[in-house]
Amino acid sequence: MPKPVVLIAEQLAQSALDVLGSEVEIRHVDGADRSALLPALKDADAVLIRSATTMDAEALAAAPQLKVVARAGIGLDNVDVPAATAKGVLVVNAPQSNIITAAEHAIALLLSVARKIPAADASFRAGEWKRSKFTGVEIADKTVGVVGLGRIGQLFAARIAAFGTSVIAYDPYLQPARAAALGVRLVDLPTLLATADIISIHLPRTPETLGLIGAAELATVKPGVIIVNAARGGLIDEQALADALTEGRVAGAGLDVFVNEPLGADSPLRTAPNTVLTPHLGASTNEAQDKAGTAVARSVKLALRGDFVPDA
Ligand code: MLT
Repeated sequence: MPKPVVLIAEQLAQSALDVLGSEVEIRHVDGADRSALLPALKDADAVLIRSATTMDAEALAAAPQLKVVARAGIGLDNVDVPAATAKGVLVVNAPQSNIITAAEHAIALLLSVARKIPAADASFRAGEWKRSKFTGVEIADKTVGVVGLGRIGQLFAARIAAFGTSVIAYDPYLQPARAAALGVRLVDLPTLLATADIISIHLPRTPETLGLIGAAELATVKPGVIIVNAARGGLIDEQALADALTEGRVAGAGLDVFVNEPLGADSPLRTAPNTVLTPHLGASTNEAQDKAGTAVARSVKLALRGDFVPDA
């Protein structure tokens, strides 16, 4: 009997391939290349993806044998889940796998912006020794506004509180008692924007959150705010943010995610001042990739055997 075909559309941890083992036939494709992905899906029973592969209705239609789409990570915004469900295709992800890693990346971006570390490093390596040029700001005693107090937002809040900050959050779905137990005060978005010295975004990309912070919202932020987004592109309007950075209303931004990834060469964020940009590395640690890869590989095996697939 032929083995089920598992298509690996992005780089996964070796441990994920080890879990899949010899029970399945493993094939590889570059999921970001549609002209390669669509034909490769033709006889795939399962496809494993991260964020660079879009499993939309067209991709699902190209995969008549598909039984499971496995997202080695959290966000499902690159999978058309209703279209998959309508076709009887199971969609699995690994919602716990990279939450610590993502929260740590947001902290890393914040510290990099606050202390101008990448710019100071570049200047140092260019042979300079400029100290006053790279004067930064302290995190202690600042008000930090967390937009989205879900799993990652909560981990970020706990870590940034340890810097001696006061943490407020906007999250319409969280009970105030839960926020209070975390030592966080819930506020509405206008209050958060107007009072936070540091804003960190921790929301999924949904029709409700897309464009949540645009030019009108950025006009109301506390002058000198630092903004961090290691969640999803499109939650902050990129042109409006670049303008606010250029005007100096926003003092700095640490960004890991963009509307279009890879970020276009002509994006205004590339030339905006005081930005630290990373190429969607929020989930990229050995630990998170091991957890995400092995969790979804286990789910794929169970699904292909026709067994019950518990939450990863
Ligand atoms: C996630 O949603 O978990 C991340 O975007 C994962 C990734 O980088 O692929």
